[in-house]
Amino acid sequence: MVKICCIGAGYVGGPTMAVIALKCPSIEVAVVDISVSRINAWNSDELPIYEPGLDEVVKQCRGKNLFFSTNVEKHVSEADIIFVSVNTPTKTRGLGAGKAADLTYWESAARMIADVSKSDKIVVEKSTVPVKTAEAIEKILSHNSKGIKYQILSNPEFLAEGTAIEDLFKPDRVLIGGRDTPGGQKAINALRDVYAHWVPQDRIICTNLWSAELSKLAANAFLAQRISSVNAMSALCEATGANVTQVSHAVGRDTRIGPKFLNASVGFGGSCFQKDILNLVYICECNGLTEVANYWKQVIKVNDYQKSRFVNRVVSSMFNTVSGKKIAILGFAFKKDTGDTRETPAIDVCKGLLGDKANLSIYDPQVTMDQIQKDLSMNKFDWDHPIHLQPMSPTTVKQVSVAWDAYEAAKDAHGLCILTEWDEFRALDYQKIFNSMQKPAFVFDGRNIVDVKKLREIGFIVYSIGKPLDSWLKDMPAMA
Ligand code: NAD
Ligand code: UDX
Repeated sequence: MVKICCIGAGYVGGPTMAVIALKCPSIEVAVVDISVSRINAWNSDELPIYEPGLDEVVKQCRGKNLFFSTNVEKHVSEADIIFVSVNTPTKTRGLGAGKAADLTYWESAARMIADVSKSDKIVVEKSTVPVKTAEAIEKILSHNSKGIKYQILSNPEFLAEGTAIEDLFKPDRVLIGGRDTPGGQKAINALRDVYAHWVPQDRIICTNLWSAELSKLAANAFLAQRISSVNAMSALCEATGANVTQVSHAVGRDTRIGPKFLNASVGFGGSCFQKDILNLVYICECNGLTEVANYWKQVIKVNDYQKSRFVNRVVSSMFNTVSGKKIAILGFAFKKDTGDTRETPAIDVCKGLLGDKANLSIYDPQVTMDQIQKDLSMNKFDWDHPIHLQPMSPTTVKQVSVAWDAYEAAKDAHGLCILTEWDEFRALDYQKIFNSMQKPAFVFDGRNIVDVKKLREIGFIVYSIGKPLDSWLKDMPAMA
């Protein structure tokens, strides 16, 4: 029986290994982590992450050929194939701080593999890493090898949160990079055989190591660039009376461009886009490619601009001050169908409004009060380095409350900001919400999910990203 071990039981390691176990009953899969609480949660009825369809997959395989454990050394030493899916956050200090990937967790996993291995191993980079990381990993392993042979493969993950199970069941492609040597090709084939249990052969792409590593960064940069492009257009739409939804539709009908990933929003979030682009920028700079680095940097700058533009619009619409006013925040996760708040635009928007002394009442169907408070008290990039966590200042604590539902959040509020596109926010009784709010009542839709016309008929003053402004907002131009 082939044995797989995955180091890192997070958003990628957990769902990916659960699907491998489901699709390959002949393979034994162990997912290991240094976090005891995470492993306990994977072994309970309350999984550590919310992901549609994940519970059913885990229930079908757990205890049969899928195991979650903190006994990292045992499972690593027994495995034939070791996936490394640890976090690779942005460095917060030292060389490359604020841009480069922090490979501390990766390096410690590699050293541990070298320490405990007693047989040949295929080591698979599942984490997103800078191009050429495999070379560094090879060095660590071969300098401590005790005669054991290691083959390093790059097999980046392309799943998106909220649709992880769907994406893993039917991936657009699986990418495997390896050395162009007999040993390298043998390792590629071994991993290809795992995926071939359910992924059609023509969707499994094999490349050299560096292409695979770079393709992951490139794919995320291209995706994020589309969002920044449409968000940049949304600002121009507001200035000219064009409607960004109509523009996206017209542009996306060009088959060379395509319709997906053209939804204007308050900004992209999530643990990947910003981190991976910063990483790409850093790699370009290290290779002396300043113009290329500046090109990609702009994608992040536009994203930051979009978030601050939103905050400015809220404040300027409400007579240039939100001090002491209650503002309801609907949605805190970085997208719908996840409880993940890493780099969510809601953090920057809430911090912006708190900076103007607003009182926030926040509701998200999947995010806990504890998480919201942690997020609002952390500095940029600290979310993946919990050690730097600062307690929330007493003033901030007083300004933030967490509501049980959207109606409670909106009661007596002056304004309502929609920051995540949860389906339930489309179906709210906006007349009931209007009746319970202070007047004039404002809606700021950062996800373009409300029926603007209907809400204006109810009496709301509505701002929706990239949509023609109503006369109130035209008279109160945002100081972006
Ligand atoms: P995560 O933080 O959810 O999970 C990483 C896990 O690794 C944590 O539970 C941590 O405790 C564990 N870990 C760290 N060092 C360890 C060690 N030495 N031994 C054992 N366990 C260790 O991160 P994630 O979101 O799953 O991302 C993992 C990697 O996958 C990152 O490189 C990320 O860029 C990439 N990725 C993420 C996504 C996504 O949607 N989240 C998608 C594609 C790729
Ligand atoms: C992304 C990539 O899609 C995935 O392939 C990679 O493996 C990890 O990074 P993820 O961050 O989980 O996945 O979600 P994604 O659906 O890409 O959304 C990222 C952010 O962009 C979210 O905040 C989302 O709301 C935003 N977004 C997405 C838009 O603002 N507009 C869009 O049209 C699409």
